[in-house]
Amino acid sequence: MADVRHRKVALPAAAVPANENDKSSNNNNIPQSNSKNNTNSLGVTDVLRILGGLLLLNCAISYFVTNSSVTWGWRPWYSKPGELRAWMAGPLQLTDAELAQYDGADPSKPIYIALNGTIYDVTAGARMYGPGGSYHFFAGRDAARAFVTGCFAEDLTPDLRGAEMAFVPVDDDAEEIGPDGELVRKGGSSGPTKAELKIRRERDLRAARKRVHDTIEGWSKMFKGDGGKNYFKVGMVKRDPDWLDRLPKRQLCQRAQEGRPKRKE
Ligand code: HEM
Repeated sequence: MADVRHRKVALPAAAVPANENDKSSNNNNIPQSNSKNNTNSLGVTDVLRILGGLLLLNCAISYFVTNSSVTWGWRPWYSKPGELRAWMAGPLQLTDAELAQYDGADPSKPIYIALNGTIYDVTAGARMYGPGGSYHFFAGRDAARAFVTGCFAEDLTPDLRGAEMAFVPVDDDAEEIGPDGELVRKGGSSGPTKAELKIRRERDLRAARKRVHDTIEGWSKMFKGDGGKNYFKVGMVKRDPDWLDRLPKRQLCQRAQEGRPKRKE
């Protein structure tokens, strides 16, 4: 029985003599309800600890889900050595002929792909774009048209003129192009008038051009590395202002022609 310690037991407020309660409130002039709040409220350190814990949990879940990244696949551009190097070197300006040297044939050079005038480094995708890769034909050139039409043999060109026709519905009730260059009515009087056809044609063309724009935009996002691929923009293709005028106008390739939608309405 030698080592019995006596602790001061916390008494409920009611059990404390009235004069003691008075003493404590007189001591510091803080109302009792306030001092109670102070002991329960979170300090800055607690908040930081909770935030840190949540951050760690978020990283752990990201790694578990993506199997590789603690930031859900997001990597700032300056954390990629190739992109940082390209940024320090400044934007590239290559002609189409110069661009052709970056098709992966020379392993000491990076692999570039251009899309609608913008050049991207796709060396990280050498398996696909390097020699023998399934998309090697895109390397070292700007083949924007093929990205829209899917004609990988005929359309390896940046010339997008008329590519929107791939998305313009085929008309059963009208000729494609009339003598004056417009859609003209075919068949009996029940079909749309020439004026109606013209309005419809303009609406279709507007929607089709947007599809072309969105398609190119979608691919360029991937080549910029937005989707998590280790690709990045390195510069622009240098072309004369009238480069397009010097190329002959192209027909829609067969694959795209056959893939045109049928009008539903
Ligand atoms: C307009 C049509 C198409 C275009 C422009 C296109 C373009 C591409 C590009 C650029 C890539 C490489 C993506 C990357 O860098 O990660 C790719 C990958 C791939 N595409 Fe296509 N593609 C088209 C249609 C198709 C079709 C119809 C199929 C299937 C029959 C297909 C199957 C594949 C496969 C399997 C891969 C992955 C290749 C690999 O991992 O080696 N593509 N496509």
